[in-house]
Amino acid sequence: MEVVLNGVFITIEEQGEGVPLVLVHGFPLSHAMWQEQLAVAGQGGLGPTRLIVLDMRGFGASEVPPGPYDMETYADDLVALLDLLELEQAVVGGLSMGGYVTFAFLRRYPERVRGLVLANTRATADSDEARANRETNAQMVEAQGSSAIADKMLPNLLSPDAPPEQHASLRRIIERNHPQGIMAALRGMALRSDSTDLLPHIRVPTLVIGGEHDALTPPDAMRELQAAIPGSQLAMLPGAGHVSNRDNPAAFNAAIAEFMRQF
Ligand code: MLT
Repeated sequence: MEVVLNGVFITIEEQGEGVPLVLVHGFPLSHAMWQEQLAVAGQGGLGPTRLIVLDMRGFGASEVPPGPYDMETYADDLVALLDLLELEQAVVGGLSMGGYVTFAFLRRYPERVRGLVLANTRATADSDEARANRETNAQMVEAQGSSAIADKMLPNLLSPDAPPEQHASLRRIIERNHPQGIMAALRGMALRSDSTDLLPHIRVPTLVIGGEHDALTPPDAMRELQAAIPGSQLAMLPGAGHVSNRDNPAAFNAAIAEFMRQF
């Protein structure tokens, strides 16, 4: 379904009934990365959950307005979505870039957060080196198109054991994205602030999800993130890389289902 959030056409999809859970996709993906969660949400496979996912501005079938898209802009799009759906609160979460958006949302709209899901992400800002790398990547995408970022990132997105079909599927998702959207998100992620100060003050139920073979946000980093959030729980998914919900959907879905039963 297409909706308008803050003047931008955004594609959303939802499945299941129960406590609203909004999940934000990673970079440079789209809501299509949640296929295996959408597929089971309608049959209760995520517990008592109304799963709501969207293509963030610049990605998938959503509009590609001029960037950069900072994490605050994305958080404002999410709150506009909650308003549109008349949801006072939701469990909010995301994977990797989706986690960065979740931290910005928590900072701006804490009263709208019923719980948090932080998958394969980090609270820290980019280092100077990472920022410079974002700009290099943005210029590469401008010159060579979306497939260039797929070539560069795919080896680190999935577990070393992921089958070729899984790589091909993620590549299709990435290549469907407009280069301008990818560039705007790269430049937006480079601008994000450090959210480490938020962690000890989190008072809502929080699920941290990691992947045993995640090379980008490795298991130790996810353990540290979980240890910094009072009362949070950790699910370290066996056999999973960075896009852990694709590498091990069964374990990802089970962790979400168990977490959502408490609300
Ligand atoms: C992601 O999966 O969203 C990316 O790894 C985030 C990033 O580039 O920092």
